Amino acid sequence: MIDFSVLKDCRYTVIGDPIAHSRSPQMQNAGFAALGLGTPYGRLHVPVEELPLFAEYARKHLDGANLTVPHKNRILPELADMSPEARLCGSVNTLLVRDGKLYGDTTDGYGFAKAVEEAFGLVPENLRAVFFGAGGAARAVVFYLAAHGAKSITLANRTVEKAELLAQDLRSAYPETEVHCAGLQDTHLLAEFLDGADLAVQATSMGLHKEDAPPFDLTLLERRKGLCCFDMIYHSTPFLRAAESAGLPNRGGNGMLLHQGARSLELWTGKTAPVEIMREALK
Ligand code: ATR
Repeated sequence: MIDFSVLKDCRYTVIGDPIAHSRSPQMQNAGFAALGLGTPYGRLHVPVEELPLFAEYARKHLDGANLTVPHKNRILPELADMSPEARLCGSVNTLLVRDGKLYGDTTDGYGFAKAVEEAFGLVPENLRAVFFGAGGAARAVVFYLAAHGAKSITLANRTVEKAELLAQDLRSAYPETEVHCAGLQDTHLLAEFLDGADLAVQATSMGLHKEDAPPFDLTLLERRKGLCCFDMIYHSTPFLRAAESAGLPNRGGNGMLLHQGARSLELWTGKTAPVEIMREALK
C-alpha cells in the first residue's frame, strides 16, 4: 500500500521503486526555498501495480512530480497529454498537474546534455557517442541528442535485439543521425566505433552495486586518447575507474541528476532554477 501520509503538506514528490535513496527532495526543496516557495517536495514509494492509485492522488492533491524507475514509461496511459519530446521517446520523468489532469514531459535528455557540456565542453551538435546499454536510462537521452543534431549514436547492449528496437525508433524519428548497434562482446566492432567517438556513456545498470562486474571489456577504453567517459550512475563504478586509470576525462551522473531536476523545477514554476543552490544541496 502507498503511504500517502508521508506527503502531508507536499505539492510535489518523486516516486519510484525503490525510492528511499533518492536525493531529489533535498535538491528540489533547496531550489523551491531559494525561490521563496517553501519546501513542498516529498518522496513516495510507489510499487508498479499501484501507479494508477498514485495518478489518482496526483490529479487531486499535487502540482507536479518526478518519476524514476520503473515508472517512466508505465505512466503513459494515465496522461491527458504530453510534450512532443516525451511522446517521441515514450519516457516521462516530469509530471505537471493542470486542471486536475496529468501532463507528461521529459528532462532527462536536457539534464544529460547539460552535464556533459559542463564536464567536457561537448555539445550534442555533431556529437559521436557510444552508449553501453539500451534500456530506459539510455532512451530519453539518445532521442534528445539526435533531436539536437548528434552525428552518430552507437547502441551497444547485452541483448542486441533491444538495441535494434531502440535504433529503429531513433532512425525513423531522426533519419539524419547515423545509428549503429553492437553487442557488448563485439570487441572489434566496439573498438571501431570507439575510435571514431567523442563520448562513451555507461548506461547499463552494472555498477549500481559494489560487487557488479564491468559491463564490457574496459581495456577497450585505453585505445582512444581523449575519449570523454560519462557514467549515468552517481557513484564510482568500474567504468569510471577504468577511464581514470587510462587517463581519460570522466564524470559520474550527479550533474545529470542536478540538471534534469533544475529543468523540472523550471517547468513547474516558470522561474529560472537556482542551479548552484541545488548543486550545493546535492553534496
Ligand atoms: P533501466 O530502465 O534502469 O535502464 P532496463 O531498461 O532494464 O533498466 O535497462 C538496464 C540496462 O542495463 C540494459 O541495457 C541491460 O541490458 P539488457 O537490455 O541486455 O537487459 C543492461 N544490463 C543489465 N544487467 C546487465 C549485465 N549483467 N550485463 C550487461 N548489461 C546489463
